[in-house]
Amino acid sequence: MNAQAWPLPFWIAHRGAGKLAPENTLAAFRLGAQHGYRAFECDVKLSSDGIPFLLHDATLERTSNGQGVAGDLPWATLSRLDAGSWHSRAFAGEPLPSLEALARFIIGNRYAFNIEIKPTPGQALLTGQVVGREVLRLWADSGLAPLFSSFEPEALQGARETAPDIPRGLLLDNLREGWLAEAQALGCAAVISNYRLMDQPTVDAIHAAGMKALVYTVNDAEAAQALIARGVDGIITDAVDCFSPA
Ligand code: G3P
Ligand code: MG
Repeated sequence: MNAQAWPLPFWIAHRGAGKLAPENTLAAFRLGAQHGYRAFECDVKLSSDGIPFLLHDATLERTSNGQGVAGDLPWATLSRLDAGSWHSRAFAGEPLPSLEALARFIIGNRYAFNIEIKPTPGQALLTGQVVGREVLRLWADSGLAPLFSSFEPEALQGARETAPDIPRGLLLDNLREGWLAEAQALGCAAVISNYRLMDQPTVDAIHAAGMKALVYTVNDAEAAQALIARGVDGIITDAVDCFSPA
């Protein structure tokens, strides 16, 4: 695993293929790749028996036929849910993927990967620790490394404990007091903010601290142009059918 090098190209497909396919399913990542993307963001949390899997929300209702808090259920139950029909009939029966299943697709194609650690509330440290351990196992000998990111400093701290050499990025949806020092204290390689926060002084402050400045979720060409002019290092987008990563 080459953990020293920055792992991501500029354009990163959000949740696989944005809204064109059911988010965080293997079908979505395949569709994003068909649109030319070679780097993907996903959201990962733990089942009740500690299996890392892909899901954005804490609860199952919006993006599957399950109910309740996903992290309360064992993987044997979660893996039988339909995470595709809510989106459209073409994806009926698409399963929730484990991180292991996604890793086979990502590593097999030598794609870049941003794993957003999205813990079930109250499980931030544990989720970071388990996902860190799992990534070391799955990416071992691949010559690749993903980027970890999280809105929760504790999740990044957990990943740092078990996988210290895998790069980390602090996600921000506001520029709270001390955000830059927080990212530095976590040994982050990047700050990834809501794109509306990433003005020129913010880009410059991140770069002056030796980190990359990335933004989510940019779906508008004018906004993308302005951010590129400001010198951001990466854009996470839903609009995989509009922005060509080439
Ligand atoms: O990782 C960037 C972005 O995915 C963060 O927000 O809510 O889409 O996971 P969210
Ligand atoms: Mg995310």
